[in-house]
Amino acid sequence: MAIAQSAAALSSAARASSPKPSRAAPSRIAAAVATPEPARRLVAAFDPAIPLASAVTPPSGWYTDPDFLRHELDRVFLHGWQAVGHIWQVKNPSDYFTGRLGNVEFVICRDVNGELNAFHNVCRHHASLLACGSGQKTCFQCPYHGWTYGLDGVLLKATRIAGIKNFNKNDFGLIPIKVATWGPFVLARFDHGFSQETVDDAVGDEWLGSASGLLSRNGIDTSLPHVCRREYIIKCNWKVFCDNYLDGGYHVPYAHGALASGLQLQSYETLTYERVSVQRCESVQEEQNDFDRLGTKATYAFVYPNFMINRYGPWMDTNLAVPLDATRCKVIFDYFLDKSLLVESISISHFVLSVHIMWRTYNLVAIIWEW
Ligand code: FES
Repeated sequence: MAIAQSAAALSSAARASSPKPSRAAPSRIAAAVATPEPARRLVAAFDPAIPLASAVTPPSGWYTDPDFLRHELDRVFLHGWQAVGHIWQVKNPSDYFTGRLGNVEFVICRDVNGELNAFHNVCRHHASLLACGSGQKTCFQCPYHGWTYGLDGVLLKATRIAGIKNFNKNDFGLIPIKVATWGPFVLARFDHGFSQETVDDAVGDEWLGSASGLLSRNGIDTSLPHVCRREYIIKCNWKVFCDNYLDGGYHVPYAHGALASGLQLQSYETLTYERVSVQRCESVQEEQNDFDRLGTKATYAFVYPNFMINRYGPWMDTNLAVPLDATRCKVIFDYFLDKSLLVESISISHFVLSVHIMWRTYNLVAIIWEW
């Protein structure tokens, strides 16, 4: 039996009254997680008031301490909008995908009415994980005892529940998570703050602050179809990947010599906004073509805390650094390409191969591949 770890608190009440289901509402989202003393000391060891020019690397424990990661998950990832996927994953009714952030298992789906929904991916009976992977489903049937939910979260069927008194199916729908889209991205938030609006403008302001207009104007929109996804497990804290992305080209002359030869590194600039950092650098060539990953047409945007959007020529790729534990993360790369360059008859494998060939041709080897 698969018991969803994210449901530990949610399921504890249910288990205590087994075999009856619990009507208790899940409380893990609202409950504050006490910060262990060692993590408190690690936080206190860093002074955010230090001017950028005088800043130093945070204490090493920020990158290794499991308590500190728990603190981050509670204070960073479970507050505010988080990128969790892209719209092509839930383009059609019955599409769904699952994910995990810290201890929260979630499922995003589009119901038969076309509504986008998100739920804790946890059965309301005994907290089994409900769905896995991604694909299409007309309903979610629990693999443990068969309770069945609609893609709108409603409990459709509770098996062999006839003898249970005072049981009301309406009390046992899936627990919703707030979900929205901005441009091509699917966002979720696991707290209860901010507005109830899920339209693009409001979400953009909350997620991207004053950078939302800049990103919209630079081609980060829904016009690029998704091409493929690659995932890598990396043996480092999630912030190491982000730090590397954010070092303003500091490592490029040494770690990426070939790339550096095509850059005017003195032109490297970083624009910072409330929650977004945008990097730009001119290329050596005066003449650029539409495939260039460099130059004024290229935008490399980091969205706090862990999402990176790279827009260049007809391409866009995104990197999502998901913490797995204190010293491991999963980085999800998604690739998007102008539809005029897509050849529908080509097989996926050939297409992915083409992507790789184009990458190499245009010096588009991702940083992580060189590690
Ligand atoms: S855990 Fe029993 S039906 Fe899901």
